[in-house]
Amino acid sequence: MEIIITPDYESMSKTSAEIIAKEIRRKHDLVLGLATGDTPIGTYRELANLHKAEGLDFSKITTFNLDEYLDLAPLHKNSYNYFMWENLFKHVNISPHKVFVPQGNTDDPEVFSDWYERQIRDAGGIDLQVLGIGRDGHIGFNEPGSSFASRTRVKGLYEQTIKDNARFFDKEEDVPRFAITMGIGTIMEAKKILLIANGEAKAEVCREFIEGPVTSQITASALQLHSYAIVILDAEAASKLKRKEYYNWIRDNKHIVRKQIGR
Ligand code: GLP
Repeated sequence: MEIIITPDYESMSKTSAEIIAKEIRRKHDLVLGLATGDTPIGTYRELANLHKAEGLDFSKITTFNLDEYLDLAPLHKNSYNYFMWENLFKHVNISPHKVFVPQGNTDDPEVFSDWYERQIRDAGGIDLQVLGIGRDGHIGFNEPGSSFASRTRVKGLYEQTIKDNARFFDKEEDVPRFAITMGIGTIMEAKKILLIANGEAKAEVCREFIEGPVTSQITASALQLHSYAIVILDAEAASKLKRKEYYNWIRDNKHIVRKQIGR
């Protein structure tokens, strides 16, 4: 994993948006995996700015969102589908038929999940998957104990996750107890992965998934096994890392490697 430590939320968001934009410019029909939550809002704002200011073109890309609450209709104001349209899609020139978000109110979640996996495969697989992280280490809604081989399916949410996400709802009882989420196996098949995290509340779990052992109890630690994973943290989320100086040194000395390989 490449660890990039930025001073604050703004610079974390700018750095991650630049990485995503670079991939879109490199491959116009990029297949992009997307996440929800507070963390990526700044990144999406930056992407919308790049669209307006520089004409960053979303018209040929396909997107797949990680997850959706079970039983929420796509237009429900707490659905992740609604979140994505509010925070990104309506601000850029994306083609609505190339946007995929799991359908929370599907009649048959199992059939739907298989269909979702097929859509990802038929699109050629995910080129770049954007991730946030939950305080219990989950990515998507893959709560502790999720199999590293898991595919898109229904998962029950942990008490901690329900509490953390209650801020988006009128009251805690309204938070759905289940969600449809891509599995760890699905996420790990993405060619590149970009995880972003900010704030002190994420410091402990960031130390665990980056510097601790690979364990299904902290599902983000699966990223240690990925061949191309970038993690961008703000200073608060990075505050408990033991090897902070080393990551900074690598970042500041990358030119040495480039020089050695003649670039
Ligand atoms: C939810 C989502 C995750 C997200 C996490 C953290 O549980 N399913 O994909 O990473 O929340 O959210 P936040 O960025 O608001 O801390």
